[in-house]
Amino acid sequence: MASVLTIRGGVPLTGKVPVRGAKNLVPKAMVASLLASDASVLRNVPEIRDVEIVTSLLRLHGVEVSKDPVTGDLTLDPTNVKTAQMKDIDAHAGDSRIPILFCGPLIHAIGEAFIPDLGGCRIGDRPIDYHLDVLRQFGAIVDKRPGGISISAPKGLKGAKLTLPYPSVGATEQVLLTATRAEGITELSGAAIEPEIMDLIAVLQKMGAIISVQTDRVIRIEGVPELVGFNHRALPDRNEAASWASAALVTKGDIYVEGANQGDLTAFLNTYRKIGGAFDIDDDGIRFYHPGGSLSPLVLETDVHPGFMTDWQQPLVVALTQAEGVSIVHETVYENRFGFTEALIRMGANIQVHRECLGSIPCRFGQRNFLHSAVISGPTQLSGAEIDIPDLRGGFSHLIAALAATGTSRVTGIELINRGYEHFQSKLEGLGADFDVE
Ligand code: EPU
Repeated sequence: MASVLTIRGGVPLTGKVPVRGAKNLVPKAMVASLLASDASVLRNVPEIRDVEIVTSLLRLHGVEVSKDPVTGDLTLDPTNVKTAQMKDIDAHAGDSRIPILFCGPLIHAIGEAFIPDLGGCRIGDRPIDYHLDVLRQFGAIVDKRPGGISISAPKGLKGAKLTLPYPSVGATEQVLLTATRAEGITELSGAAIEPEIMDLIAVLQKMGAIISVQTDRVIRIEGVPELVGFNHRALPDRNEAASWASAALVTKGDIYVEGANQGDLTAFLNTYRKIGGAFDIDDDGIRFYHPGGSLSPLVLETDVHPGFMTDWQQPLVVALTQAEGVSIVHETVYENRFGFTEALIRMGANIQVHRECLGSIPCRFGQRNFLHSAVISGPTQLSGAEIDIPDLRGGFSHLIAALAATGTSRVTGIELINRGYEHFQSKLEGLGADFDVE
């Protein structure tokens, strides 16, 4: 896979793209397979870097992972799970954030876990304090070492009454993956309830777990001593779907996103309609298109589900540079997710970022020097530029800006896009984008 794209902008993207299983579910379902006494089958698995990393980490721990050459389905057999060599695990330091979710399942399977330093997109500090706090409350002993964290539970993991200070997706998954086989009952308050979490709960229920999702972000798990393998089709990637939807709007195009599911995109679809984007929903996907005329500005806050997802923000900001008037976007999930606007400004966008909470509700980042609100004035004609991609979603927004711009852009760092967008180059080709690969 090449690392430089030369993009000649101005071509409306039109055609069909398929989206497969969600990047933010598939690697976690793979980790869940460690909890079983026999093999699991995971279907609708995308070919993305996070899946490769988790495959490699599972194999280091003795899990047999095989891929059906025709369907791409994964079979994950943990029968011979074992302790991995620390130096082998260490080779994955900085690759991804998923390894932190190995803690509970590995302790259940082999009594200990070594977790390498984490990677993932640089969109804020991304601490793991909630993860370590809940693990300690389950009875784990956490030992921070150079290069990673060593975790064990000499007295076993026991259910606990837990509260998250913020509905973190990862920490909620940590609790689910640990509590299902912990002794006794776990009650988690302040849980995240994203569709990917509901799908992970579906996976765990297939395995034999007893989990109830109650009102007001409370999840109750009754621990069971043994779980069996699952057979599951991953839910579609709603973040990829929303990205292509924004690409259609920004390039004045028309994209049918095969596999997009309306129910997981309600907040996005409302916003898309308010800006002036059009969509038609059928049983197999959603057609997103620019219906002509001008786009409208709006005031938007990102939030945890069921709010407007933070991962939808960056591609949509590019669309807002084309709206007539002033838009305001308040990012309340990550403190540092507007770094990508620097390249858009160089391309001609009119965007200011502010420390203040420019939204109806003050968030955790107000008065703390984080540039987490953006004011976007449009419409502005974007022009081609040299761009080095900073992170997954910011990078996708740069790509679609370059595709809409006049002139040529040279884009480096596109490997980052492969972390979460399956076959994005061939999808762009299929949509008629004009680019060369170096
Ligand atoms: N947080 C803490 N301490 C923790 C954990 C989280 O302070 O121990 C904070 C984070 O710093 C952040 C907020 O809580 O400000 C929410 O973070 P969360 O834990 O929900 O995020 P995550 O699990 O690390 C997942 C997705 C992200 C997505 C977020 C929010 C995966 C692999 N990543 O991250 O996806 O933005 O949930 O929905 O599932 C992406 O796909 O590009 C991406 C970044």
